[in-house]
Parts: sequence; C-alpha cells; structure tokens
Amino acid sequence: MDAFLIQGNGPLRGRLRVNGSKNAALPQMAAVLLTDDPVTLRGLPDLADLRSMVALLDELGCIREDEPSAPGAFGPILTLRAEPGGDPHARYDIVRTMRAGICVLGPLVARRGVARVAMPGGCAIGDRPVDLHLRGLEALGAVITLEEGDIVARAPKGGLRGATLFLGGASGPTVLGTANVMCAATLARGTTIIESAACEPEIVDLARMLNAMGAKVRGAGSPRITVEGVERLGGVEHEVMPDRIEAGTFMVAAAITRGEIELENCPLDCLMAATEQLRLSGVEVESDAEGDGWRSTCQVRMARRPKPMQVTTHPHPGFPTDLQAQFMALACVADGNSIITERIFAERFMHVPELGRMGARLSRQGPTVVATGIERLRGAPVMASDLRASAGLVLAGLAAEGETLVRRVYHLDRGYERLEERLAPLGARIKRVEEVK
Ligand code: EPZ
Repeated sequence: MDAFLIQGNGPLRGRLRVNGSKNAALPQMAAVLLTDDPVTLRGLPDLADLRSMVALLDELGCIREDEPSAPGAFGPILTLRAEPGGDPHARYDIVRTMRAGICVLGPLVARRGVARVAMPGGCAIGDRPVDLHLRGLEALGAVITLEEGDIVARAPKGGLRGATLFLGGASGPTVLGTANVMCAATLARGTTIIESAACEPEIVDLARMLNAMGAKVRGAGSPRITVEGVERLGGVEHEVMPDRIEAGTFMVAAAITRGEIELENCPLDCLMAATEQLRLSGVEVESDAEGDGWRSTCQVRMARRPKPMQVTTHPHPGFPTDLQAQFMALACVADGNSIITERIFAERFMHVPELGRMGARLSRQGPTVVATGIERLRGAPVMASDLRASAGLVLAGLAAEGETLVRRVYHLDRGYERLEERLAPLGARIKRVEEVK
C-alpha cells in the first residue's frame, strides 16, 4: 500500500486546474443505463471510484466504446453504451468497495424493469442507509424486496408511474437518493414531483445531462424537482462539472500554508459557504468577474494565521460535509478556539485522533469538535481512514513542522487524481512511497 511522505515546506504558490467532479460523474455514468444509445462523458479525472463504476457498468452490460489513450488508461473521455438485456445484478464485491454503486438502481429498474443491487455496507464515516432511495422508488411503483443481501427492485407491468413523493430524511435530503429517483422518473409514465430533493450542484449537472438525453426535468437545484416521464432517452455528449470539493481542498491548501494559488476551472458559484468561511478566517478569495460561475479562475491567498471559525455542515447550499475535515485542519492552527459541528454524518471525525498525533488540540463532544488553535502542527506518522479525512491529513502535513507520513493513501486516490503530482509543482515537498510494513 502507498503512503505520502510530506515535509512541511512553507507557502504553496502557483496555478492548479480543478478536475472534473467525482460526485457528479458517478450518477452520470449510471445514467448510461437509461438508454441504448452511446453516451460520452468528457472531463473525467482518473479516479479509483470512476474505474470501479466502469467495472460495475461492464458487468451490467455496458460496452466501452471509446479508445483508451493508452492500454488501461482512464479519462478524460469515456463512451459507454448499455446493451439491452444485460444482467441487472450489481454484485456486492463492487458495491462494497464503492457504495455509490447504489445509483445504478433507479436507472436499471426504470429501463429494464428489474434491478438487483447489493446492499451497500457502511463505511468509515458511519452507517450509510439507503431507505430513502427505496422509499422513493416504491413511490414510483417499484416492488422492492431484500434477497440474500441484495436489493431487488421490480417495476410493475407497464413500467414505473409518476408520483408526488417526499424524499427527506432525519438528516435532510439525500444526494444519491435524489439522483436515483430523478433518473427513474425520467422513464416513468406521467409526472413525478420530488419534494425535499437534494439541491447539490451535482444534481443540477445530472439534470442537465438527462434533459440533453431528452428527459423533461425541471427545478433541479431547488428542493422541489418535477419530472415529466418520456418514452425513451437518447445518447448524449456531456462535460462533467468541475469538482467543488477538490477546489475547496486546494483553497485550504493555500490558506493553511499561507500561500497564494490561482485555481482554473473552479466552480466558485457552488462554493459560497466555504469561501465565506475562508474570508471570515482572513483568506482572500478573488475571481475574474466575467467567468462562468461554474468554471471561474480565482485567486486564493493568505498572509497570516487564520482567525478561528464556527463551521456547521448542512445540505447544499450550506457548508459541505465533504470539506469538514479540511477546514478542521485549518482550524487546528487558527488564532483562537474554533467550533466544528457535523450534522450530516455523525461519525465523520476519524481525522480527529490523527490530527491529535500532530499536536492538534481537539476536543470532541458528540457532533461537535472544539479546536484550540496552536501556532504550528508537528509532523508525525498518521493513518488515512476515508477520502476526506485523508485530504485533511495531507493539508495538515503541508503546514506542519517536520515530516508527516500519511499511510493508506488508497483512500485519497478514490477522489483525488495523483494529488502529490499536482501539489509538488506549487512547492509542496510531497512524494508517494511504498508503505513500510
Ligand atoms: C453524497 O453521498 C456524496 N457522495 C458524499 O460524498 C457526500 O458526503 C454526501 O452526498 C452528502 O453531501 C457521492 O455523491 C458519490 P446522502 P450520499 O444520501 O448521496 C442519510 C465524498 O467524500 N441518508 O446525501 O450517499 C445519510 O446517512 C462522499 O465524496 C438516509 O438516512 O449521501 C446522511 O446522514 C462521502 N437514508 C444524509 O442522509 C438514505 O436513504 C445525507 O446522505 C440516504 C441517506
């Protein structure tokens, strides 16, 4: 297994281009199952999770029609075509490693009339239920049973039918649940209204792709989405939106090292909660006025120790839970006490004890962590546990005094493409090493 060896080395300076979004691409790849025509996605990063999704779709009968640029290469262009009648069984050994595989459920049951998808397990950030996904599809007429650990969804004779449904749960809306139901509704007979839909930009991007395939989706990005079912969907070429979480991670890299980074292809318009918090902490974030809010060029600079922050994660447009660990790393070196509350995934604090190994003064009380800022963290061997916790540890290592070894960076490779090769040109002393046993 690989690790990252990082030497804290002062300010990062330079330019980075934000990659396409993992969390937008995954449901878009699943949407290939809604049509027999070829679908081309552009701007895809080379990520373990996207490669897993291609493997899952391959098992579901989707043929890759693009020519990889080199044997085994992945991205930035991917063309897939779903063979009618493929095997509608998404097996546990893939869904286990990439729980986003659940988002093939809606497209499969809508297009094939039957879907068999392994129940995704939990993960490091806690229990990951799918009850809202199932409730939403049942509202469209699907009959859902659990058979040997698999979710089996069957459409009624005549196919799914539109319905008005409430999709909110105790922790608010569900992003992939909204994607699943929205996709299924595109081929249901009649009109579907999804109340308490997720408002994340990735849902907006998916709706754009579906409408380009001939769907009739309105209201994506708002809590109420309306879908008029159509007979069939056609193929499409779609450019995946930039990754707002990767962009936010790079912004914190500039802030925590007191450097200056120019970000290209930055979805600044989707990051207002995070940029507001950065500005409150003393970080300068400026962008070119004329850019499209989803693909801006922006400058992030920080000359001083950050001011303490109060962060509570919420569904979009609130502060994104996927940036909580990164901002906690920044809070560790703030000039005062910060309060960070996690409202989406109660257990998303695996990075807390690891940051503590670097000298951070963090005290957890339930869903809240109080960070007593210190002048500087100290490098130490730390263990990555999940994708965004790993990112937080890398950021801490960039700013720490001395050497940090971040172990099990396979977690990081799920959502950041060769992160070490992108940070090194900005002055980061970071390299990938074979993990010593
Ligand atoms: C998506 O996961 C993202 N993943 C996550 O990013 C992100 O953290 C999450 O949305 C929240 O923004 C992808 O898009 C691939 P949810 P998703 O359903 O859709 C509860 C990353 O780091 N819930 O919006 O699976 C759930 O437990 C990943 O890139 C139910 O109760 O998350 C949570 O508390 C991690 N029942 C809340 O809702 C359900 O049926 C939000 O979860 C579904 C969810």
